[in-house]
Amino acid sequence: MKAVILVGGEGTRLRPLTCNTVKAMVPVLNRPFLEHMICYLRSYEIRDIILTLCHLPDSIRSYFGDGSKFGVKLTYIVEESPLGTAGAVKNAQRYLDEPFFILNGDIFTDLDLGAMLAFYKQTRAKVSIALTPVENPTIYGVVETDAQGRVRHFIEKPAWGEVTTNLINAGIYLLNPEVLSGVPQDTHFMFEHHLFPQLLDKGESIYGYSSEAYWIDIGTPEKYLKLHHDLLKRYGEGLTTQYSIHPSAQTEGKVLIGSECHIGPRVRIEGPATLGPGSRIEEGAQISGAVLWRNVQVGRQAILENCIAGDNCFIGSGSFIPQGSVLGDNVVIESKSNLPPSSRIWPGTKVVKH
Ligand code: GTP
Repeated sequence: MKAVILVGGEGTRLRPLTCNTVKAMVPVLNRPFLEHMICYLRSYEIRDIILTLCHLPDSIRSYFGDGSKFGVKLTYIVEESPLGTAGAVKNAQRYLDEPFFILNGDIFTDLDLGAMLAFYKQTRAKVSIALTPVENPTIYGVVETDAQGRVRHFIEKPAWGEVTTNLINAGIYLLNPEVLSGVPQDTHFMFEHHLFPQLLDKGESIYGYSSEAYWIDIGTPEKYLKLHHDLLKRYGEGLTTQYSIHPSAQTEGKVLIGSECHIGPRVRIEGPATLGPGSRIEEGAQISGAVLWRNVQVGRQAILENCIAGDNCFIGSGSFIPQGSVLGDNVVIESKSNLPPSSRIWPGTKVVKH
């Protein structure tokens, strides 16, 4: 079976992490996010994968090549300008002649694709949409179905008074390629706003496949951090690679330490936390719940809490980087700086003490 992964978006909500790195390549547990998705598809024997690219396509191609190193065959289709989710798949139509999966390229899930395929076949639908429950449906597009799962309405951001379901579109679809005839060529067109409502109006059968599977999208820094915490708590054992750690340093909980990290005396790292390869944590620094990318330097006595730091950041000694802060690549924080909570610092910025 084939799958299309949509990886052409700009990832604006994940900035400043996506200023230099396309969303699909942001590291999750020190591997590009897309690698996790490819492994997930491969675990269902889906090895023929089409990647639809637009924004910053080169880093994806150079990392994954033809896919053989990852046990899959990859085909790349690059859009000159963004075609939207459905427009991007229309652009790949020549490769698609039987039902296939489509996945948004920012989703991490353990949804059972085999069970979804069985449901698709059993309902003889033209489209199946994976559905996932959320606590607050008013900020999403919800999908209302009948008792058999047939979609009745798509409701965009319902007010609390209008909420009839907490199921939202999980960004995984099974599609009969026939329905692509309803998508105009070379035009920006979306599944969720255009094609699916259009198919419903025509009376075509669309079914929602709901499940309680783990599901998260890494669209925002908060969710990106939450994914790390969730994964480390679930799979955190045995994740460490070679590093040099001073005997007086302490780690507690699930901590992933990349290769060639240096951890100085009396450092304290409280998991769940991830240190990217080549990071250097100096004496007495305290890190809890943070995700550091490659070659991050943390000075003596600095304190980092539930924050994210991009490649090559330098955090001066005695600084405090509080909850929710996100530093783009190459940010320099002067010694003894106190950042306000949830700061967003653009790549290359030098923050002077305040
Ligand atoms: P934001 O700018 O933060 O909204 O992010 P996004 O546009 O990258 O992601 P969004 O959640 O809106 O889109 C869901 C998925 O579709 C992501 O994996 C995107 O990469 C992908 N996507 C969105 N628009 C396009 C497009 O025009 N072309 C292609 N090929 N993929 C797209």
